[in-house]
Amino acid sequence: MSMSIFDSVYQGTPPWDLGRPQKAFVDLARAGEVTGSVLDVGCGTGEHVLFFAGEGHEALGVDTVALAIRKAEEKAAARGLPAPFLVWNALDLAGLNRTFDTVIDSGFFHVLSDEDRPVFVKSLAAVLAPGGKYLMLCFSDQNPGDYPLPRRIREREIRETFRDGWQINYIRPAIFENAIQPEGHHAWLASISRAGRG
Ligand SMILES: C[S@@+](CC[C@H](N)C(=O)[O-])C[C@H]1O[C@@H](n2cnc3c(N)ncnc32)[C@H](O)[C@@H]1O
Repeated sequence: MSMSIFDSVYQGTPPWDLGRPQKAFVDLARAGEVTGSVLDVGCGTGEHVLFFAGEGHEALGVDTVALAIRKAEEKAAARGLPAPFLVWNALDLAGLNRTFDTVIDSGFFHVLSDEDRPVFVKSLAAVLAPGGKYLMLCFSDQNPGDYPLPRRIREREIRETFRDGWQINYIRPAIFENAIQPEGHHAWLASISRAGRG
């Protein structure tokens, strides 16, 4: 994972930054799958946090890029939404010292290196409340091309990453929208809970 890529992209508007939430997360909200307090890991400029705050959820967004967080805070103020944002490493969520009912991830998992994946899984476990869910949208291996990021994730990789102590509720084909290609990219949408906890 290279932080310098993300530090520079937010000086402009990166293609994933739609100015609105991904349709996949709007659909999850409509389906009643997002419950209680919401943490967005790798929240970027905050569209998902602001969407869920507008839906009445207590929502917090964390991202390591200060400029993205500043843009998110400006949007929250402009829209009159009471959503807090923190410059925070999603690999150290235990340091937040609290839990959430739902953790959402729109395009964060697919930037993690092999080494960081287990670190993130441990970090995630520390902030999911009993019965809580991790709802994740990532690039899938169905996308053609040869580039380092985002990583094109195989369904099996998700299952392997969350093999021990987790329950995979589903992994479904989905679309990761972007501002450049109207058809978006192939993605996986996963719902994952702590095993035996909901
Ligand atoms: C593809 S972008 C998605 C942003 C946002 N979720 C969205 O849908 O617009 C991935 C985000 O992860 C953030 N990120 C990368 N590594 C991170 C880390 N260790 N902790 C928190 N955020 C991180 C990047 O700064 C970037 O904003």
